[in-house]
Amino acid sequence: MSKPLEGIKIIDFTHVQAGPACTQLLAWFGADVIKVERPGSGDVTRNQLRDIPDADALYFTMLNSNKRSLTLDTKTPEGKEVLEKLVKESDVLVENFAPGALDRMGFTWERLNELNPKLIVASVKGFSDGHHYDDLKVYENVAQCAGGAASTTGFWDGPPTVSAAALGDSNTGMHLAIGILTALIGRGQTGRGQKVAVSMQDSVINLCRVKLRDQQRLDRVGYLEEYPQYPHGEFSDVVPRGGNAGGGGQPGWVLKCKGWETDPNAYIYFTIQGHAWEPICRALGKPEWISDPNYATAQARQPHIFDIFATIEAWLADKTKYEAVDILRKFDIPCAPVLSMKEIANDPSLRASGTIVEVPHKERGTYLTVGSPIKFSGLKPEITGSPLLGEHTDEILSELGYSKDQIANLHTSRSV
Ligand code: COA
Repeated sequence: MSKPLEGIKIIDFTHVQAGPACTQLLAWFGADVIKVERPGSGDVTRNQLRDIPDADALYFTMLNSNKRSLTLDTKTPEGKEVLEKLVKESDVLVENFAPGALDRMGFTWERLNELNPKLIVASVKGFSDGHHYDDLKVYENVAQCAGGAASTTGFWDGPPTVSAAALGDSNTGMHLAIGILTALIGRGQTGRGQKVAVSMQDSVINLCRVKLRDQQRLDRVGYLEEYPQYPHGEFSDVVPRGGNAGGGGQPGWVLKCKGWETDPNAYIYFTIQGHAWEPICRALGKPEWISDPNYATAQARQPHIFDIFATIEAWLADKTKYEAVDILRKFDIPCAPVLSMKEIANDPSLRASGTIVEVPHKERGTYLTVGSPIKFSGLKPEITGSPLLGEHTDEILSELGYSKDQIANLHTSRSV
C-alpha cells in the first residue's frame, strides 16, 4: 500500500518533544524524515531518563520512530554545505531551536528561501514572533502556565496545576503538522514554499478555548453555574480552578469505586447528561428522582449536585470501576474507568487498534510506544523503531552525491 506522504522529504532539525512529535507523525504517513543531529551527542533525549545503560532512552525512541538519522555539525563550513545540498532537495525543514538559533547558524528564512523557493520552513517556538516574550526558551510546563491551562487546572484550594498531557509539546507538534500539510497543499497551488510558525503558548490557548468562553461569561454575569463554586462558593473576577467538573453543560465528577482505599485509580468519571436523567435514576435505583422537582431539571439539580454525586458514590461502593461502567453503559450514560498507564499498556483493544504498539529496536529489543491516533480506511501506518545516532549518515550523504572519499573526509573533519 503506498503512503500518502511518500516522496515528501523532510529535514527534521528538531529536538526534545514538540518538533519530533510533529515529524514522527509525518513519517508514519510516508514522508522521508531525516533527523539531523549533532555528531557525538545527538538529540538530548537520547540520554535523558535512560532505563537501559548505553541504549537510547524511551524519551527518544517514542518520539522518533520511522525516521532516518544523519549526524551533521551545521556550524562547520563542510556541514553547512551538506545542509545546503539537503535543503535544495527537500520539501520541508522543521525546527524547534531556541529563538534565533537557526539564524545564528546562517540559515535565515531568506537564505533558505533563496536556496529552495519551494521549501516549507516550519518552526515551533515558545511564544509567537513579536510577542513580548519571544526571546524566551520554553519547555512544556512553561507553555501550560503561559497558555492559561495551569491557572484553570487543579482544585480551588490548591496552586495552579499542570496537566500530564503534553499540551505544550506534542500538542504544538500536532498544530505544526496541520500547518505543514496546509502549506504543502498551498504549494501545489502557488509553486512556492512558505514559513509556518506555531507557538507553544498559542497551541495551549487553542485548547483552552472554553476557559476563555468562561472568562467572558464570568465578566458578564459574575458566576459560572457548572463550576463547583456555584452556588455556595465565591467567584472572583478570574476563571477559577474547577477540580474535576465537566467543562460543558453536563455536570460530571470523578467518583470513587470499590477498592479506592488501596487502588489510586479505582474511580470512574460520571457525566450527568441533561436528557439522560431518567436512565441515570433507573440505573441508580432512584426512580423517585425522575419527577421530583428538586431533581427533575438540570437547574434544580445544580445546587445539590455534590449530594447527587455522593449518592452515586454510595451506589458505586460495592462495584469495581469496570463493573460500574458495564452497568452504566447499558443505560447509555457517558462514563469511563480512570485508567492507569499500566492498564493502558496492556489494553487489548488499544493493542488491536494499533494505538499501543510494540516496536523493534537495535539496542533495546522491543519497546512499547503510542502508534497513530489517526485511523484511515486506506492506510495502516506501520511503526518502525527509532534510528541509532547517525545510523543513516553515509546512506544519506551518498544519496546527496558524495563519494566514498568525500564521506570519509567529512567523518575525519568531524562534520558528520
Ligand atoms: N550542529 C551544530 N549546532 C547545532 C546542531 C547541529 N546539528 N543542532 C543544534 N545546534 C546548536 C544550535 O544552533 C544552538 O546553538 P547557539 O545557541 O550557538 O545558537 C545550540 O545547539 C543549542 O540549541 P537550543 O535550541 O538553544 O538548545 P537548548 O538546549 O539550550 O534549549 C529548548 C532547548 C527546547 C528550551 C529550546 O530549543 C527552545 O526553546 N525551543 C523552542 C521551543 C520548544 O520547542 N520547546 C519545547 C521543546 S519540547
